[in-house]
Amino acid sequence: MAWVRSGGLNLARSTKQNHANMRQRSVVFCIQCFTTAILVFFLHCKCAMMQAITFHRTKHLIIQELTLMNSQQMHMSFTNCFHVKASRMKLVAPPYSPNTDGIHISASTSVVIQDSTIETGDDCISVVSNSSNVRIRNIACGPGHGISIGSLGKSRSLSQVHDVRVDGAFISNTENGVRIKTWQGGCGFVSNIVFHNIFMRNVSNPIIIDQYYCDSPHQCANQTSAVKVEDVSFIGIKGTSATENAIKFACSDSFPCERIFLEDICLAFSGGEPTSYCWKASGLSFGLVHPPSCLSSSEHLNLNKTNGFPASQYAAVRI
Ligand SMILES: *[C@@H]1O[C@H](CO)[C@@H](O)[C@H](O)[C@H]1NC(C)=O
Ligand SMILES: *[C@@H]1O[C@H](CO)[C@@H](O)[C@H](O)[C@H]1NC(C)=O
Ligand SMILES: *[C@@H]1O[C@H](CO)[C@@H](O)[C@H](O)[C@H]1NC(C)=O
Ligand SMILES: *[C@@H]1O[C@H](CO)[C@@H](O)[C@H](O)[C@H]1NC(C)=O
Repeated sequence: MAWVRSGGLNLARSTKQNHANMRQRSVVFCIQCFTTAILVFFLHCKCAMMQAITFHRTKHLIIQELTLMNSQQMHMSFTNCFHVKASRMKLVAPPYSPNTDGIHISASTSVVIQDSTIETGDDCISVVSNSSNVRIRNIACGPGHGISIGSLGKSRSLSQVHDVRVDGAFISNTENGVRIKTWQGGCGFVSNIVFHNIFMRNVSNPIIIDQYYCDSPHQCANQTSAVKVEDVSFIGIKGTSATENAIKFACSDSFPCERIFLEDICLAFSGGEPTSYCWKASGLSFGLVHPPSCLSSSEHLNLNKTNGFPASQYAAVRI
């Protein structure tokens, strides 16, 4: 195993100006055999890849105590990586800086992002293309666009995202809280997703599944195929919504969302009673759910099933 220690990453800047802190903010990369680590720093470069740091095809990577400020676009991206553990990071950009995602995880497996603060003008964390086994823990997010799975299915692409768990987040002053977004016309699936133990403050769309995502100046035509969304749990999500519509599930007509699970949800809206909106979404709610669930009940749901929804997810969050 090789250890590469770099205390001199020029991108890493301490927000606190004392030397003790500067020393702490060293970066440790652990790179095992047969591993390629490519660090691309394009701080002042007008290139197509506008990330401050990209890790591509990297295995067994450990990143700690890294601060990145004012990246030109995405701060940090992982593409085709395997086994990544990133912790105690701070990624900061102004709220009105376009496309400055904090952490972008693409086609990567076994990724842990934890104990980090992300304040940007776009998604704090986005998980896309064929990523799986992603654990996101103890994140402070906002301002920005929240924690997202997607966008997926752009230009009729195939995506398979599964086993993503967000566990412990404080999301404040963001456009979205926890979100799944897919373009019409894509294919594949998003499944086994758990959003657990999340506190929201002044979030415009705290809980949202948007299968009509269209980040384009032109209206996107309705299409029949879609990335299927299934087995998604929202458990222990509390705080305040900045809009009346605190829960929104806008699912595909041809591939409705199935086995959506809500438990222990309490979202308030300062301007009155919050509402939930459902279109082609089915599932179950347990315990207190406020605003009340609008899910239609799942057909053929067998609550005794042990290797499927919801028993396994239910058990998983109790451990
Ligand atoms: C996902 O993987 C499949 C092959 O398994 C590939 O065809 C597809 O292009 C990938 N999707 C993306 C968005 O990279
Ligand atoms: C609520 O969040 C919005 C951004 O989404 C922000 O402009 C506004 O100032 C925030 N309000 C409060 C009271 O913090
Ligand atoms: C697309 O489908 C949605 C949901 O069925 C519908 O509300 C909307 O009017 C349709 N848009 C167009 C352009 O046909
Ligand atoms: C679930 O299990 C209970 C007791 O173990 C049993 O009475 C019930 O019939 C089962 N329900 C289904 C749908 O299998």
